[in-house]
Amino acid sequence: MRIDVLLGEAQVAPADVADRIVVVIDVLRAATTVAAALDAGARAVIPFETVDETASRAKAYARGEVQLAGERRMVKIDGFDLGNSPAEYTPASVDGRTILYTTTNGTMALAASHGARACYFAAFVNVTATVASVRSAIEHGGDVTIICAGHERHVALEDVVCAGRLVRGITAGVERVTRGDGARVAEMTERPFQGGVASVALEAGHARSLVAAGFERDVEMCLTLDRYDRSVRYHDRQLQLEPATRADH
Ligand code: MLT
Repeated sequence: MRIDVLLGEAQVAPADVADRIVVVIDVLRAATTVAAALDAGARAVIPFETVDETASRAKAYARGEVQLAGERRMVKIDGFDLGNSPAEYTPASVDGRTILYTTTNGTMALAASHGARACYFAAFVNVTATVASVRSAIEHGGDVTIICAGHERHVALEDVVCAGRLVRGITAGVERVTRGDGARVAEMTERPFQGGVASVALEAGHARSLVAAGFERDVEMCLTLDRYDRSVRYHDRQLQLEPATRADH
């Protein structure tokens, strides 16, 4: 098995994802928010790259069936129902609804996974479940590409630490693993955070920006390990919960 980590979405070429098992990471905050929305009972989350596309897709639904959601510059988009704070996504706001969702980085990174054999959207809140899903997907062979969404096309520490944790879990006990240099960088970056990831908030630039903008509670929630026991699968342009798999690492 070969495992690669791309440290930013801008680096992704079609050959990096073609027929591979792909994991897109956006710890702060898109992948955490999507996991929260699905856990709260959202039917599906449909990601869009632009605000206009998101708003125009809403016309295909009855108003009560969907919530328009997402952020630009960290705050809720004018006229949308929900922003990008995971705590906003409760059964009262999302249960049984489809979420039409756009963010600055996370939804763009998902678009880069086109051509993958399977794709998961991951954060610390579902990292162990994602490891289990990937291990099950590669049981009979296959290579893995992990894409760190990053922040505004640059590397984001929290995503690289999460990638390192995924590499460690996915490769544990697996014979004959080839790690690309990105996977080695992620493993080395994760090492100081093996005892806990809360302190990533002190070091990661986007975490500090979110705290300064009043989103401290979001950062805490995003830096919680394994709050959810299901991974999130991106399939047919929709994000949905994957049925539970055995966490075996
Ligand atoms: C994104 O996907 O761009 C992020 O989730 C930004 C944010 O923290 O809202």
